[in-house]
Amino acid sequence: MKIDNNLINEIRSKVDIVEIISSYIQLSTRGKNYFGVCPFHDDHSPSMSVSKDKQIYTCFSCGATGNVFKFLQDYKHISFMEAVKECADMCGIDIKLTPSMEDTMLKKNKTLYEMYEVSHKFYQNNINSSFGKKAKEYLYGRGLTDKEIKVFEIGLSLNDYDLLVKLLKKKEYSDKDILKSGLANANENGLYDIYRNRIMFPLHDPYGHVIGYNGRAYEGNIVNRYVNSKETDLFKKRDFLYNYHRAKNVARDKKEIIIMEGPMDVIRAYTIGIENVVATLGTSFSSSHANLIKRLSNNVILCFDGDDAGLKGTKAAIKELEQIGINPKIVRLPGNADPDEYIKKNGKDKFVNLLNKAINVMEFKERELKEEIDLSSAEGISNYIKSMIDEINQIDDDILKEVTINRLVQETKVDRELILSKINKKEEKPIIIKTPKPKKSNKYEKSIEHLLYYMLRSEEVIKLYDKKVTHIPNDNYRHLAFQISAFYKQHGYINVADLLTEVRDDEETVNAIGQISSLNLKEDYTIEEIDDYLNNIKEYNDLEKIDKYKSELALTHDLDKKIELANKLIEYKLRSEEDA
Ligand code: CTP
Ligand code: MN
Repeated sequence: MKIDNNLINEIRSKVDIVEIISSYIQLSTRGKNYFGVCPFHDDHSPSMSVSKDKQIYTCFSCGATGNVFKFLQDYKHISFMEAVKECADMCGIDIKLTPSMEDTMLKKNKTLYEMYEVSHKFYQNNINSSFGKKAKEYLYGRGLTDKEIKVFEIGLSLNDYDLLVKLLKKKEYSDKDILKSGLANANENGLYDIYRNRIMFPLHDPYGHVIGYNGRAYEGNIVNRYVNSKETDLFKKRDFLYNYHRAKNVARDKKEIIIMEGPMDVIRAYTIGIENVVATLGTSFSSSHANLIKRLSNNVILCFDGDDAGLKGTKAAIKELEQIGINPKIVRLPGNADPDEYIKKNGKDKFVNLLNKAINVMEFKERELKEEIDLSSAEGISNYIKSMIDEINQIDDDILKEVTINRLVQETKVDRELILSKINKKEEKPIIIKTPKPKKSNKYEKSIEHLLYYMLRSEEVIKLYDKKVTHIPNDNYRHLAFQISAFYKQHGYINVADLLTEVRDDEETVNAIGQISSLNLKEDYTIEEIDDYLNNIKEYNDLEKIDKYKSELALTHDLDKKIELANKLIEYKLRSEEDA
């Protein structure tokens, strides 16, 4: 779905950021601004300021900056367009949606989707017919009821050679399309059904369309327990999470998502009222999976099977999730149990208890090391400590680091100082945004920042910039100035909240806007002040040039070049003295 930028800006102007943010977090007023505890980092005192006037928020501690859309996106883990839609609904604007990703997919693969619809109805009819008795008994035997069969739309493929193929042919789908769907194979006698006599767990895309199946054998001599959909234009295993379309809203509400391996695990969790669960269909965990998960919540619990495959999958998933800034929690089930078996045997309370006691990545790694290393020997302990120090050196969070060191000291009874001596001193990470107090910057930096500050609020200043500034020395600031000027040219006004919409995918510019907006400057400016900034910037550029010519002069041996450079130098020096 794509809508016009002007309409997006109109929607933004009709809602109030203070009102919306305060419906999620508590804001209090101090002067013109509102303050609240920042939800985007581990904040304990209010460091997020929300400006009613500018309609943006900035966090002085973590640097988070944005307009109302960005807030909704990050707070509710929704897409930009979903945030726009939410605001549009609030102010009663009916947004006309041009084709969404969903629509485009539906159109492009219309035939495939339709064939899946046909097969899906067919399989569901089968399980509810007299042919479905045994399959249902099997499912009842596993503790499911008709409710789960209905909710999860479970079906049945019949014990026949080509029933589905015949049905699809009757509906005039071509052999080529039927083959492409992954519902049939071909041999010298023609097409035949891939799924025969299997309980069919339909696989849905994030919008709820069926795009594949997990077919489980349930009677007779079972050779392949599961037959999975082949990769098609619609179904790619590495991009797919089972139950995503049902779990997404629950997960966003509960602010937590649980990941398991198989449909049976997810369905069992549902029977005890846990619905914020998806499954990877096995233990491979891809970067796509991680990104899909991040759209739902940053609070992730990995709950794979208790066996070795589950352990390997857990490690892979931790890696992928850490890559995109998620620190998952981990549940390791006892024995080789999977969530399905565990819940069936131990019931809801025990399982919920396990979820509540999910360990963090560090504890998980510690546990793994202890499994691998024999701690009864001195050598083992020494290896254990070395490995743990490697892990500790990678921890960013100070508190977690301290807690882990303490535990290591207690456990191994090795001198704390000795262990500390092996741990890297943390480099001070530069904090993007400092406190809102005026910064102690030099005259040139200050001029650039002040100029940008007023460019963000005044057309007059933008025009002066366009006329007089040729170059802003700092990359991010130069780019920001360029964007402000371009925005003004395109829209005929300037407004920081709308500019944030425009540059939303450009993180550096968003950060630069955050830095400039959190300066505590007076509202009005005088033309003299602006002229001062402009002159300072020019002076800086001249000085830079002088430095450059000086060093070139020192390096060159070519006489003509020397003369040329010397002349340039004199010219610049004269100019900068005049200005001064
Ligand atoms: N899987 C698969 N093909 C296989 C094995 C597994 O597609 N040959 C997928 C299935 O979606 C399965 C999941 O990986 O649900 C996890 O595998 P496993 O733990 O072996 O299956 P269970 O979920 O325990 O299934 P069941 O209890 O029905 O045996
Ligand atoms: Mn399993």
